[in-house]
Amino acid sequence: MSPTNTSPSQPAMTVLYPRAEIAARIEALAQAIDRDYVGRELLLVGILKGSFLFIADLARAISIPAAIDFVRIASYGSETQSSGIVEIRKDLEMPIRGRHVLIVEDIVDSGYTLEALCNRLLLREPASLRVCTLVDKRAQRATEAAVDYVGFTLDSGFIVGYGLDFDERFRGLPDIYLLQTGTRTQSPKGGGG
Ligand code: IMP
Ligand code: MG
Repeated sequence: MSPTNTSPSQPAMTVLYPRAEIAARIEALAQAIDRDYVGRELLLVGILKGSFLFIADLARAISIPAAIDFVRIASYGSETQSSGIVEIRKDLEMPIRGRHVLIVEDIVDSGYTLEALCNRLLLREPASLRVCTLVDKRAQRATEAAVDYVGFTLDSGFIVGYGLDFDERFRGLPDIYLLQTGTRTQSPKGGGG
């Protein structure tokens, strides 16, 4: 795909995080995770769908033993703002009691998704619960949701690629792009993951 394209069906977009930078950040995250969890076993919990490429690369970059499970979350709200109403559409298949759980998220925006998921998982009494996000988007943060490992920090803007979608498009792109139009106002947040 060309980096910019102004046709109506193809929003203009520019590369924000090229694949080499993504790979380098994941390598650094994996080193930090390996250090922090030395001697332990991890359960990586990917939030579908957006984290599917990130968790695939992260799981291959870490050296400590790790099981992998997934959840799927639906969040409701207006088109520009997610609400605190979050529902688990697909739950974990593994029990997490007494395990070291690391949530792997594509992007934390308001933080509602993460907060709701953490609250629910904490009720199951894991040995520890931490969060790793590829992108920490700060401008619209509405919760205290704590993020332990951050790939990239972004103030605002809508991004796609490397798992992230706009209306289910662009997930398969190997680089992360910033959408140039006012697409944030058109972007459905509900359940796309
Ligand atoms: P939150 O509940 O507001 O933190 O929403 C987080 C979820 O919204 C992420 O898991 C993504 O699925 C989605 N999201 C937020 N910002 C973006 C973006 O810039 N591009 C694609 N998806 C996004
Ligand atoms: Mg998501």
